Amino acid sequence: MARFTLPRDIYHGKGALEALKTFTGKKAMICVGGGSMQRFGFLDKAEAYLREAGMEVERIEGIEPDPSVETVMKGAAKMQEFQPDWIIAMGGGSPIDAAKAMWIKYEYPEVTFEDMCKVFGLPKLRTKAHFCAISSTSGTATEVTAFSIITDYNKGIKYPIADFEITPDVAIVDPDLAETMPRKLVAHTGMDAMTHSVEAYVSTANSDFTDPLAIHAIEMIMNDLIPSYNGDVAARDRMHNAQCLAGMAFSNALLGIVHSMAHKTGAAFADCGAHIIHGAANAMYLPKVIAFNAKDETARKRYAKIVDYMGITRRDASDDEKVRDLIEYLRGMSDELNIPHCIKNYGADSYPADIGFVPEDVFLARLPEIAKNAIADACTGSNPRRPSQREMEELLKCCYYDTEVDF
Ligand SMILES: NC(=O)c1ccc[n+]([C@@H]2O[C@H](COP(=O)([O-])OP(=O)(O)OC[C@H]3O[C@@H](n4cnc5c(N)ncnc54)[C@H](O)[C@@H]3O)[C@@H](O)[C@H]2O)c1
Ligand SMILES: [Fe+2]
Repeated sequence: MARFTLPRDIYHGKGALEALKTFTGKKAMICVGGGSMQRFGFLDKAEAYLREAGMEVERIEGIEPDPSVETVMKGAAKMQEFQPDWIIAMGGGSPIDAAKAMWIKYEYPEVTFEDMCKVFGLPKLRTKAHFCAISSTSGTATEVTAFSIITDYNKGIKYPIADFEITPDVAIVDPDLAETMPRKLVAHTGMDAMTHSVEAYVSTANSDFTDPLAIHAIEMIMNDLIPSYNGDVAARDRMHNAQCLAGMAFSNALLGIVHSMAHKTGAAFADCGAHIIHGAANAMYLPKVIAFNAKDETARKRYAKIVDYMGITRRDASDDEKVRDLIEYLRGMSDELNIPHCIKNYGADSYPADIGFVPEDVFLARLPEIAKNAIADACTGSNPRRPSQREMEELLKCCYYDTEVDF
């Protein structure tokens, strides 16, 4: 038996934020990040709508990008004090993910972070509060997914919490919130969404329910991401929907090793000044993983089908040619978005540089451990090919040096 789970309601379109007025409850805890929601007036608006709905409102502000276990624990304690019956998480993937984990700890104070990370092992939530997620970036789709990514900075590792229990009850997908994103964020979150849809489509857990969402998302992202990056507001608005469709797909079809590798390299070189931003990591690794996975016949056929939908290659081309063209197309997108092709060239502000942040000797010294952690990541289980330790190390090397994957 397979399961397909989404939020009960998805309010979408310009002005959808107003849906908050229709909520019923007593106390709402709004969780936000570093200030963009305040700066652009969305936080005050949301709070006013909730008060109009008759609720008492408190805020948890300042949730950092790539939120830590400590932030989660502190936020849960605040929830414990306030006792909300609605948690309203607003912003990018970071504050929404942190709020999801706070929600678990609020409902079950005895649960540890290690307990939360047991895949599909959470107790039943909603005994104290319901959860509404309002996304302001167009990438993670955490507003509709069963995932939350929390970083353990002591270990330098990102841990995905995965359980349909944390799929929000309500998602608000209002493109007004995404219009204020700076370009670089558009690029990174957009390639994150592209990776979600491609990984979901070739995942071993793909289904008739997830395929149409993944394919439609790929088509939209292909058409809208670059124009959105270059300032086309209508394309920016469409990207907000596209990333959400991708999220509906991957929340149910799961992901693959692009994400396993992104999770395990993201914070691994923080001491070198290189935080490898999630979307940039995905953009760099996706072409390499496609080449690796395409050695599996089922995956190769699925990539070829993506290419047929994208219409970038003659239909009578061989599957191998189609895979090659898909890789080239995605690399071309990274070029247009000013994202480097490999870790070696990952430089200041995440832009391409001849000499990047991560020195070769540091990378090679940490490689075995990173590869081991990537294999153990929750996203590896649904990847079409199961890499060995040696293959994962080789694959990561290709992602460091931008060399061809021929194994
Ligand atoms: N839960 C999931 O399913 C899932 C999926 C993929 C990634 N993730 C995680 O999500 C996190 C990344 O989230 P993200 O990419 O959305 O970025 P983010 O939430 O980390 O935000 C990045 C920065 O953008 C700012 N920002 C957000 N929205 C803005 C707007 N509309 N205008 C201007 N500035 C804005 C924030 O203040 C922050 O400084 C990572 O931790 C990643 O691992 C989660
Ligand atoms: Fe992602």
